Amino acid sequence: IDQLSTNQAGHLQIGGVDSLDLVKQYKTPLVVYDVKAIRDQIHHFQKVFQDNGVDFAVSYASKAFACIAMFQLINQEDGHIDVVSGGELYTAIKAGFPMERVSFHGNDKSREELEMAVDHQIGVIILDNFHEIDLLKEVLDDRQSHINVMLRVTPGISAHTHEYDQTGQVDSKFGFDIQSGQARKALGLVLEDDRMNMLGIHCHIGSQIFEVKGFEMAAVKLIDTLAEWNKEIGYVAKVVNVGGGFGIKYTEEDDPIAPEMFVDAIVKAIKKRTEETNMPMPAVWIEPGRSIAGPAGYNLYTVGSRKDVPGIRSYVTVDGGMGDNIRPALYQAKYEAVLAKDPSAPIKETVRVAGKYCESGDILIQKQDLPETKPGDVLAMLDTGAYGYAMASNYNRNPRPAVVFVENGKSQVAIKRETFEDLVSLDEPFD
Ligand code: LLP
Repeated sequence: IDQLSTNQAGHLQIGGVDSLDLVKQYKTPLVVYDVKAIRDQIHHFQKVFQDNGVDFAVSYASKAFACIAMFQLINQEDGHIDVVSGGELYTAIKAGFPMERVSFHGNDKSREELEMAVDHQIGVIILDNFHEIDLLKEVLDDRQSHINVMLRVTPGISAHTHEYDQTGQVDSKFGFDIQSGQARKALGLVLEDDRMNMLGIHCHIGSQIFEVKGFEMAAVKLIDTLAEWNKEIGYVAKVVNVGGGFGIKYTEEDDPIAPEMFVDAIVKAIKKRTEETNMPMPAVWIEPGRSIAGPAGYNLYTVGSRKDVPGIRSYVTVDGGMGDNIRPALYQAKYEAVLAKDPSAPIKETVRVAGKYCESGDILIQKQDLPETKPGDVLAMLDTGAYGYAMASNYNRNPRPAVVFVENGKSQVAIKRETFEDLVSLDEPFD
């Protein structure tokens, strides 16, 4: 809360714009991104690599929040993106994003998606399983084309985080297992196909991770694997992609290091291990999603009704909820909110902030200290930029909010608010 900016009127200010003016102009619920915060975080990551003298790519994991404007912003900062679906790739194409800076992930890419990736000559397809290797071979033969690939491997690291977010451990739906020789077999299949150019290996050990150790262990495991492959068949990787997952601070209970410090530790671990194993230093790629989009986002809501449960607690309800941010209901994720008209007003009570959806589980914040709050006041929920709008739904047939980008005192719409008309636009009458 300490880093919040306020203007002379004492109102919460985002990107130099009064949050209450944003609400007047665009209504609520509203998702607001502070564009400079996104640029700054990308720069912090880039600087770590430059300081360490290592070739790199900062590849934004667009699943955290994707739209045309976001991709154009990432492009302005020379970022790469990773996509995980034909829809994300289509959005990147529409944004005019340079295809050579796109990586394609996923454990069930369809033939159509692979064709799209090959036809647009994206930067790299990250192969996840044997079926996909076969499928891609077919597509490449069919198209008489070629493509860069990497292998996603599971390094056997269980990151200490929410269990839904663990993906680097052996028992995972993602990637080739190293221990049992799956990854080595996949390497053979890729190398024997002249249409695939084997760039290197990838792992992603989980999300919202606070411990450096897991990342370092995974990085060392990747280098050791490459050293083995080098000894065995002389393979030399150009790229080691260590995924994303760098944790951010959502509430006062969280105390992570700065996201770029994880990367610094990873890069140093990779450097050290490549030296120890006499391997050439590869380029290091990272795929942060949450740490780029999360802290830059704010969800603005208007307070509606209130219910006091005698002797137990008070519920303050807002005009959004699980449809625009499912994370509290799905992961028991915690957030903080402030009163937009006066973020540092004296606290009066602790309330439960509830959404408007017809479901008891639609609670945005279980316990929030707030000043006196009345219907019509605006609440700003903080750090909502990752996996908020991206996971939004039309549950209860509520339209999804508008998304606005702000920078240097100016705002612009990045995604329009859905209308009731939009909601029925795909419906067909029954006869
Ligand atoms: N790379 C790969 C291969 C991934 O699977 C992910 C996230 C990332 C990068 C980016 O991770 P990040 O830096 O954002 O932690 N919906 C969940 C998070 C799912 C993350 C899935 N993969 C949530 O809201 O917490």
